[in-house]
Amino acid sequence: MLQHIQHVLTADELRQAREILARAPWGDGRATAGVQSALAKNNEQLPQDGPDTRALQEIVLRGLNRHAIFFSAALPKRVFPPLFNRYGGAANAFGDHVDNAVRFIPGTQGERVRTDVSCTLFLAEPDEYHGGELVIADTYGTQRVKLPAGDMVLYPGTSVHRVEPVTRGYRVASFFWIESMVRSDEQRRLLFDMDQHLMSLRTRFGEADPAVIGLTGTYHNLLRGWVDT
Ligand code: NI
Repeated sequence: MLQHIQHVLTADELRQAREILARAPWGDGRATAGVQSALAKNNEQLPQDGPDTRALQEIVLRGLNRHAIFFSAALPKRVFPPLFNRYGGAANAFGDHVDNAVRFIPGTQGERVRTDVSCTLFLAEPDEYHGGELVIADTYGTQRVKLPAGDMVLYPGTSVHRVEPVTRGYRVASFFWIESMVRSDEQRRLLFDMDQHLMSLRTRFGEADPAVIGLTGTYHNLLRGWVDT
């Protein structure tokens, strides 16, 4: 499933992030690519460590941690420390590829993240650059994604995807992966839909409505059956 998550960052956090990004040391994006994707990848990236990257990671993780819809959609078990990339000028595109299935977290003793969910958090406004759509081959057809700054898209790590050439301006984004407590994309989708409907029922009938209590129980019982902690 493809899920658009709105307002991950506040206007203030976005401004802070963009200030850091404007003076950050960009390098070749191929540093973190796999063998196949290195051939397709032509963009710039921040180093995986360093004070700027750490400050930016903190901003993104804070946004994720308070976002109930993100939590419900991703059911995160582990989040790969967010990375930051830029497309524009001569380094402006990333052809079709699939992300590596497993990523090693830098600076740990071989800690790994299975990439169940891929995430792109947009940090430039759509009218600041031409092109740069994230094109994802989904089960329901090809999706072209270009979101407001501060918004994020989640999509299955199994999808073939690319970033179209940026022909004007710069597309700046954060990208990372999530190992979910629920590995199956289909089960995650069912849980997310159920949770969204439950929220709307709670608003209409209140927390104490017996059907709301019962269905909340069903949600948690399904989750308990499918979760892998
Ligand atoms: Ni990718």
